[in-house]
Amino acid sequence: MSSLEFRATPFLAGSHRILQSSEGIGEVSLATVEKYANTLLDFGRNPERITQITMTTLNQPLSLAKRGRIAGQYSSDEGAVVFEGDCLQLLSTIPSGEIDLVVTSPPYNLGKSYERRQGLKPYIAQQKSVIQECARVLKSTGSICWQVGNYVDDGAITPLDIVLFPIFIELGFRLRNRIVWHFEHGLHCSRRLSGRYETILWFTKGDDYHFDVDPIRVPQKYPGKKYFKGPRAGEYSCNPLGKNPGDLWTIPNVKSNHVEKTEHPCQFPVELIERLVLALTRPGDRVLDPYLGVGTSVIAAIRHGRRGIGAEILPEYAKISRERIALAAEGSLEVRPMNRPVFDPQDAGKQLTTAPWNEIQSSGSQQILFDGGKEGRSPK
Ligand SMILES: C[S@@+](CC[C@H](N)C(=O)[O-])C[C@H]1O[C@@H](n2cnc3c(N)ncnc32)[C@H](O)[C@@H]1O
Repeated sequence: MSSLEFRATPFLAGSHRILQSSEGIGEVSLATVEKYANTLLDFGRNPERITQITMTTLNQPLSLAKRGRIAGQYSSDEGAVVFEGDCLQLLSTIPSGEIDLVVTSPPYNLGKSYERRQGLKPYIAQQKSVIQECARVLKSTGSICWQVGNYVDDGAITPLDIVLFPIFIELGFRLRNRIVWHFEHGLHCSRRLSGRYETILWFTKGDDYHFDVDPIRVPQKYPGKKYFKGPRAGEYSCNPLGKNPGDLWTIPNVKSNHVEKTEHPCQFPVELIERLVLALTRPGDRVLDPYLGVGTSVIAAIRHGRRGIGAEILPEYAKISRERIALAAEGSLEVRPMNRPVFDPQDAGKQLTTAPWNEIQSSGSQQILFDGGKEGRSPK
């Protein structure tokens, strides 16, 4: 008979907690935490031998808490790696089959400050060389999530997922979801509809892949609904942990008033990558981002007890990465929490949410303006 101490990360939202014991680290549902025997089974222990479990709170994410550092080079036991340089160079130092999840957003070849614009053909060839290396370092049970938008040439768009898809298929990958990431802010287009989504292609290397929807479930519309007939009549019909979030994700992009905004022009929101990390990896797994930017993928990984590895070619962004990762490791990086509803100015009672011309229209004196035979015209 013995007792076992578990330590849990404090800042996890949702229904799961990462636990650490002398047996290692793992992730279990809150319901499971309450049922000690199941918790122990998750850790491969014999429940009969354990009489007592105590839980304490960890102040730091597990992987970094152990190592207390951000490495500059890859090594399999590092908790966080920021390689300052070309991603192919970093990839060449990673042994085959070590990575559980590759998640990234490459340059879109738009001539942004961090890229040199080139023809679409050489761009695709360059992407192919990086994707091939990512495939090599990925475990057979692993996943790749390639997040892209449009390449734009003279007003004509090329959705990059369409042109990159064949590269993954040639390498034997299997597409599991094409996740549409919808956001509400961005450039206003005048000769086409403004772009308000990008996509994440989620591929697995094989059919035996890790996927756990429980940590990323979202609230049901009608959680109180019950079976009204049959053997389960009267019981709640939905999963108490919430519903599968589906493949259309509305998550605010990081614009100037977002709490995570840095000087990088197109950083991921942390919550976008957290969803992928939680569903596609286990605690202690390795998450790689070959185009790290300001460190978001590593941050999402370490916030959930995974290891994070990334390459960033521009020193200024690599520096911001290290700073943000260090804050995340202390638990003091400000992030927008997963599952917070999208801000609705009307619900929040903000001013300026009613169009002034509608107000005018409803007032008697202005009625004349709209009664003069120009029915249906806007006042502009
Ligand atoms: C679209 S941004 C990714 C931003 C990132 N998702 C984040 O949350 O900050 C692409 C990044 O890749 C970097 N980059 C471009 N070419 C690279 C290369 N060959 N190796 C490593 N990083 C590169 C750019 O400097 C840029 O910061």
